[in-house]
Amino acid sequence: MRTQVGIIGAGPAGLLLSHLLHLRGISSVVLERRSRDYVERRVRAGVLEQGTVDTLVAAGVGERMLREGLPHHGIELRYGGAGHRIPFEKLVPGRAITVYGQQEVVKDLIAARLEAGGDLRFEVEDVALHSLEDRPYLTFGGERLDCDVIAGCDGFHGVSRPAVPEGVLTTYEREYPFAWLGILAQVAPSSEELIYARGERGFALHSMRSPTLSRFYLQVPPDAVAEDWPDGRVWDELKARLETVPGFTLATGEIVEKSVTPMRSYVVEPMQYGRLYLAGDAAHIVPPTGAKGLNLAVADVRVLTEALAAYFRDGSAGLLDGYSAACLKRVWRAQHFSWWMTTLLHTFDSDDAYGRRLQLSYLDYVTSSEAAATTLAENYVGYEW
Ligand code: FAD
Ligand code: PHB
Repeated sequence: MRTQVGIIGAGPAGLLLSHLLHLRGISSVVLERRSRDYVERRVRAGVLEQGTVDTLVAAGVGERMLREGLPHHGIELRYGGAGHRIPFEKLVPGRAITVYGQQEVVKDLIAARLEAGGDLRFEVEDVALHSLEDRPYLTFGGERLDCDVIAGCDGFHGVSRPAVPEGVLTTYEREYPFAWLGILAQVAPSSEELIYARGERGFALHSMRSPTLSRFYLQVPPDAVAEDWPDGRVWDELKARLETVPGFTLATGEIVEKSVTPMRSYVVEPMQYGRLYLAGDAAHIVPPTGAKGLNLAVADVRVLTEALAAYFRDGSAGLLDGYSAACLKRVWRAQHFSWWMTTLLHTFDSDDAYGRRLQLSYLDYVTSSEAAATTLAENYVGYEW
């Protein structure tokens, strides 16, 4: 079997790449370890930057997102007994975010690929990469797929990055001393906009998926497991961390999903080796406080598509050779922003009273200086290099 681009992973990166390549007349095969049902149900990101929305619309897969997604023109930072709105419409006019679940993006992309006769293989076993320097090929479940190029879109725990010979990639990494407990609940959101809440009990985030579905996150110890958090405890803690301003009451409902995510920053450089190109979480991870991971995956794939289109059109490899450098500028901006949002809003056991005062002082600055608030807004809606 042969294809132009062998894609490992049917997350947002792999599926969007396959779709964008198809629009350019370039063939691909997507190999995914999990079932279709599993990837369509996996609850993860929810915030789409303007550039991500524009990319999906331009690619013809934005129809349902435009209908069902929730455009947001601001977020609230809540701390010290008050809420402070960061108004995007004033600070970054014309730019906004759209709240639309990652699994909905994944469903839309899978539907588009299947409708176009795309070759998506779910539940494939033992994907392995071979001959990355020249004439690369993939093996899986006893089959062989010859490719011109391989795209490693298999997330942080995939097989692509480890297939690069030792010593080639430089790794940059930071672990945080806490995790996030993510909760999906069948209840109308208690706020029209996202609330990022900092308090002595730790960070909490109120997000949403639809007028009847709310999404929450709680800062928890790094070794926490979902079983530590029966529903009653989740609601008590969310109330304690969010009902901190006059007049705000948190509506509760049935919890339908609960999971713990470690918090990590991670980058490998370069994002390519031989004929292998890494995209999305396979190459970099950010803590979710800045809502950047999915958006970075989409941005990588946009760059890779242009580079592959030039390569398959007339053999010019210039853009492909520059793929990693073209992506890493945006990746590092998002790394800094995500680290900054994380340190601004979480409590660190290692912080002394002085450290906590500094954090509050910085929050006061961000919510009172237009320049500082604009920095947050510009990065949150997506800074385009
Ligand atoms: P993934 O989505 O991880 O997809 C990789 C795919 O590869 C998976 O389907 C996996 O099953 C498959 N795979 C792995 N190994 C193999 C193998 N050996 N063989 C075949 N297939 C394999 N980002 C945002 O932008 N905004 C947010 O609001 C946001 N919130 C988040 C909240 C949480 C709780 C979490 C966990 C993440 C959040 N993110 C957010 C990050 C975002 O979800 C990821 O950055 C995004 O999923 C990256 O997409 P990807 O396609 O690169 O990787
Ligand atoms: C989400 O809705 O899942 C979400 C929102 C904002 C974040 C992270 C996740 O920063």
